[in-house]
Amino acid sequence: MAKQNPNSAIVGLDIGTTTVRVVIAEMIDGELEIVGVGEAESKGLRKGVISKPDLTVESIRRAIEAAELMSGLHVDDVYVGLGGAHIKGQNSDGMIAIPGRHQEITRDDINRVIGAAKAVSIPQGREIAEVLPQEYKVDDQDGIEDPLGMISSRLSVSVHIVTSPVAAKQNVVSSVQRAGFNVAGVYLSGLAAAEAILSDEDREYGAAVVNIGGETTTLAIYQRGSVWHTSVFPVGGTHFTNDIAVGLRTPIPEAERIKREEGCAFRMLLTPEEAAELIEVPSVGGRAPRAVSRQILCDILEPRAEEILAHVQEEIKQAGFDRQLSSGIVLTGGGSLLNGIVEVAEQVFNAPVRIGAPGDFNGLIDEDMQPAYSAAIGLALYGLRCELGLVSGVASRQQQRRPPANPLKDKVKSFFGIKR
Ligand SMILES: Nc1ncnc2c1ncn2[C@@H]1O[C@H](COP(=O)(O)OP(=O)(O)OP(=O)(O)O)[C@@H](O)[C@H]1O
Ligand SMILES: [Mg+2]
Repeated sequence: MAKQNPNSAIVGLDIGTTTVRVVIAEMIDGELEIVGVGEAESKGLRKGVISKPDLTVESIRRAIEAAELMSGLHVDDVYVGLGGAHIKGQNSDGMIAIPGRHQEITRDDINRVIGAAKAVSIPQGREIAEVLPQEYKVDDQDGIEDPLGMISSRLSVSVHIVTSPVAAKQNVVSSVQRAGFNVAGVYLSGLAAAEAILSDEDREYGAAVVNIGGETTTLAIYQRGSVWHTSVFPVGGTHFTNDIAVGLRTPIPEAERIKREEGCAFRMLLTPEEAAELIEVPSVGGRAPRAVSRQILCDILEPRAEEILAHVQEEIKQAGFDRQLSSGIVLTGGGSLLNGIVEVAEQVFNAPVRIGAPGDFNGLIDEDMQPAYSAAIGLALYGLRCELGLVSGVASRQQQRRPPANPLKDKVKSFFGIKR
């Protein structure tokens, strides 16, 4: 029988367009361990947004049940991700006067200046999903990470604000509740994925995380330890599958299988012999299968990969970060598993590119699938930060940017095999 009241269990739930993924982590002897994972085919979402909650509720239930079964734990509270093509990021500034002479900046002042930076006009039907402080300016001294206790008469802050349609979050929360679980916290799944795979150095020196999902691709740019740009594109791995289905006139499930098993998005990886090799492609409507060369499959995948990544590159350029990402581009998400995508990305970005995965799962997950679990793991890590009191409200979010030296965190890091 499943254990009740697992106070130490932390559950990350990533409701993706193609797959719902769950990670159950538990504090065991002071160390965080992943004790259960589960996934289920996702239904009722379009471009990362829940459109048919009845179907999504069932997918959530099945994914959590699978993780419960593996862990022997009973899940109540979950930390759930918010995604979707309608999510938008923008930067903003705020400034306040510190009353009195030679006053120390208090936690209250910090909350106040963040409140001032948040006071941007937001279109009707949207809400602020996240406010991420970037840096503070105390009088004329800029680049301050934490102004608490400094003497000043004027305090400024720059923040990254992420907004989302009000209904998107409501649908996520109500679907989780209807599935029978309590929402302990909501966090952007794109940021959760990035935070699960980036080292402190990556965040400091500059990195762009490109999370290629099923119908969305999320970009998050980090520098000097903070988030400077986020955006979501309505494209993802499903587009490759559809291109194969149309181009080779084969049913979608076959196209998906061919993509995963035989696909290559970078022509130069194939030797002439491999390029000429024939793949059997089932036809639609009961017709006989046909033989198609690997080269033809590559001719379908490569331009689509270039197109998707070129959109991302354009956005990085527009944001002014194209020559500033010393730690390069990190691809993650299920779509990053496409053979050859790193090589295409290196050409498009003209920068170092690698696949980012959260690391060792104690064998609970096939190593090849780990990048697809970045968001679910990141949500469990977010949950851990919440439960350590590092994320409650604006003040502790400040701490969250620069978590204090914490043996627990090191254990988490070493558990996940994160190289820092
Ligand atoms: N081995 C593989 N080779 C190529 N593509 C793969 C492979 N494994 C998974 N994918 C693709 O990854 C995509 C799904 O990725 P992921 O699970 O990260 O998306 P999601 O979270 O469900 O969707 P989204 O983030 O857009 O809401 C699918 O298009 C799938 O075909
Ligand atoms: Mg996803």
